[in-house]
Amino acid sequence: MTAPLPHGQTPDAVLGHLRSAYTLDFPFAELLRDPLPGGAGQRAHDAADLLLLDTLATWSEVGHRLDPVVVLDDRHGALTLPLLKAGVAVRLGQDSASHQRSVTRNAERVGDCVRPDHLLTRGEIGPELLAGARTVVLPLPRSLDALDQTAHLVAEHADQEVVLLAGGRDKHMSPSMNEVLTRSFSSVVAGRGRSKSRVITARGPRRGRPAPFPRTQVQDLPDVGPVTLGAHGATFGGARLDPGTRLLLQTMATAVEAGELNRGRAIDLGCGNGTVALWLARRLPGMSVLATDQSADACRSTELTARQNGVQDQVEVRRDDALSTVPDASEPLVVVNPPFHDGNAVDPGVAHRLIAEAGRVLQDGGHLWCVWNSHLRYRPLVERLIGPTHQVARDRQFTVTVSTRRR
Ligand SMILES: C[S@@+](CC[C@H](N)C(=O)[O-])C[C@H]1O[C@@H](n2cnc3c(N)ncnc32)[C@H](O)[C@@H]1O
Repeated sequence: MTAPLPHGQTPDAVLGHLRSAYTLDFPFAELLRDPLPGGAGQRAHDAADLLLLDTLATWSEVGHRLDPVVVLDDRHGALTLPLLKAGVAVRLGQDSASHQRSVTRNAERVGDCVRPDHLLTRGEIGPELLAGARTVVLPLPRSLDALDQTAHLVAEHADQEVVLLAGGRDKHMSPSMNEVLTRSFSSVVAGRGRSKSRVITARGPRRGRPAPFPRTQVQDLPDVGPVTLGAHGATFGGARLDPGTRLLLQTMATAVEAGELNRGRAIDLGCGNGTVALWLARRLPGMSVLATDQSADACRSTELTARQNGVQDQVEVRRDDALSTVPDASEPLVVVNPPFHDGNAVDPGVAHRLIAEAGRVLQDGGHLWCVWNSHLRYRPLVERLIGPTHQVARDRQFTVTVSTRRR
């Protein structure tokens, strides 16, 4: 057994090369961004995934015992599936339900060469998944809060000798990421770049730091007043009121006063920190709200927000990819502030899927309230996927529309 590399050194620098043991024979081109609609040039893996895998193989070559290996937030299986193929047992944790589906479908797609059933453990990103981990592989998230939360969890629960490999595309990386990792690790080193990608290696967990999340903030909601919003690390916008959502709520307030919004129940689609669900529950005390989000952290945040403001009996929170658990033509009202990113990439396919799903679940005559950044021009999309659409508000940045489902 070789002596472990001193902190601050990375195997690419010591050996002068990287090993391709996990990438050489894997059919990356067969992976799809399923269930997201594919688009020209949109692959289900990137150069950062390949660099992470080659870096991992090289750590093994210099004598680091990899096992247990934890992979976090693998989007489409480009990290997990090559490792399984090579016989490496993986514990996989994913915040996103749609990425969970994507990995499952890609595992079926390349099933001939992967036998995940024996080697794959799936779980929530938390203490149990990370317990005793010697190696953690992570595509760098867009949000520094998400990175901070994950780094804290790894430092608290992984093995003292853990090697955390966090990789990304240069264009999406910033020195702040190193600073965030330094809160939880004593050694944080960026490796050599390859194909405009880079891996940051973090070692030496600092234990005993207070958990950075969840956090709460008091925010003033239109027509409701001060409330407490809650957020776990990977929640869109943290515990703040989103400016687009502010315009949406101001506009819905007018509809409540006109008696137009009380439809008994509503779906807050992509609930994030739960602002919309809370607002509906407060303004319409007879209403029951189903709040759904693909992100486990968003769901936990919405639960926290509902509890903090005493509306938990009116708000059911469900983690779901789009609205996969909701029957066709069953709902009178859906409210959405659609996302436009998949990971780091701006992707209109994400909003398109959510709006199409809203169209599927709305009853004839049901309403979709939608707010978006005006430059995205979603109006033709909601007209086509839902039905007749009115613009009900517009400011310098955002547009709010109401569409009526026609079947
Ligand atoms: C722009 S944020 C809006 C959050 C919150 N409603 C607000 O107003 O602050 C969009 C939300 O959609 C969620 N989302 C993205 N893709 C989704 C999917 N496939 N299914 C459900 N939610 C999704 C994201 O996790 C994010 O919380």
